[in-house]
Amino acid sequence: MLVLGIETSCDETSAAVFNDGTLISNIVYSQSEHRRYGGVVPELASRAHIRRIVPVVDEAISEAGVSLSDIELIGATVGPGLVGSLLVGLTFAKTLCFALDIPFVGVNHIEAHIFSSLVYEDVSTPALALVVSGGHTELHFIPEFGVYRLLGKTRDDAAGECLDKTSKFLGLGYPGGPVVDRIAKEGDPDRFSFPRAMLESGDLDFSFSGIKTSVIEFFTSCGEDFVRSNLPDILAGIQEAVVDSLVEKLKQAYKIYPVSDIIVVGGVAANSRLREKLARFSEAEGVRMHIPPVSLCTDNAAMVARLAIFLFERNGSSPLSLSAVPRLDLAQKGD
Ligand code: KG4
Ligand code: ZN
Repeated sequence: MLVLGIETSCDETSAAVFNDGTLISNIVYSQSEHRRYGGVVPELASRAHIRRIVPVVDEAISEAGVSLSDIELIGATVGPGLVGSLLVGLTFAKTLCFALDIPFVGVNHIEAHIFSSLVYEDVSTPALALVVSGGHTELHFIPEFGVYRLLGKTRDDAAGECLDKTSKFLGLGYPGGPVVDRIAKEGDPDRFSFPRAMLESGDLDFSFSGIKTSVIEFFTSCGEDFVRSNLPDILAGIQEAVVDSLVEKLKQAYKIYPVSDIIVVGGVAANSRLREKLARFSEAEGVRMHIPPVSLCTDNAAMVARLAIFLFERNGSSPLSLSAVPRLDLAQKGD
């Protein structure tokens, strides 16, 4: 079955094609329009999606070596995300389905991130999933795919947002995560220490606003010259605090749910230090750690198509009346 996936929930316009369960193309256009603003500007994002959606879909189809009329199913992101951005991909996908008379499947962006771990490999359930991106930091117990129990989530900023804001504060560019990752590689993570919040909270929630506040206080008290000349050590310290907070909470969840498989996905899962510490955790505990290749950590349509295949096999198609849902939970705590 030839399946087209479309993702436009934030600032990546992406289309991907699967042929009988194998990914054969995945085109991601990352909008550069937002760089000068240090964050995503929703109106610019929707306009950029409108400009890019046709060329991106065309490229995905031609790289797959198929033609549009061969496509048998289309999946697109319904939410959560920026409403204007979501509407572009979703309306485009539904219109194509109507015109081609093929089924449509609407998908949840967080669940799609979880399914990025299934693009190239199998994952056994029950599993734990840590979703860490610019907009989300949440931990789920997955008894089986399609069923998610929210164990904890951030009470304030997402992990990626904390790195993005740090980078913006220092004028290092957007998105901040990859910049911090690159510069921190040259630094000593133990020279400057930043708080690891909520580790003793007795639950599995996260908090990153404390790190952000202490970073701003540190920058203000040390002065620009000191910060500039010690940048790699400072960024390595900040990154270490974010990574430790994530890994420690994951370890706490693993103590309660000693599963064989753990999934770590979302843009921050691209972080080299996080990947290093997760590999150590996996080795020490003998647990299978599923972290997608870096290209599938940040937003992409491959994960959307992969989830659409699963949902179509399970529930059939979605109605074309389905609209964008900017705030959409995968599961409420206690579900
Ligand atoms: O999953 P994603 O593309 O979009 C959301 O759904 O939010 O994640 C984007 C986030 C941004 O905060 C970005 O700074 C972060 O992922 N990110 C990274 C790295 N690459 C992207 N954070 C840390 N290290 C990286 N290498
Ligand atoms: Zn995302």
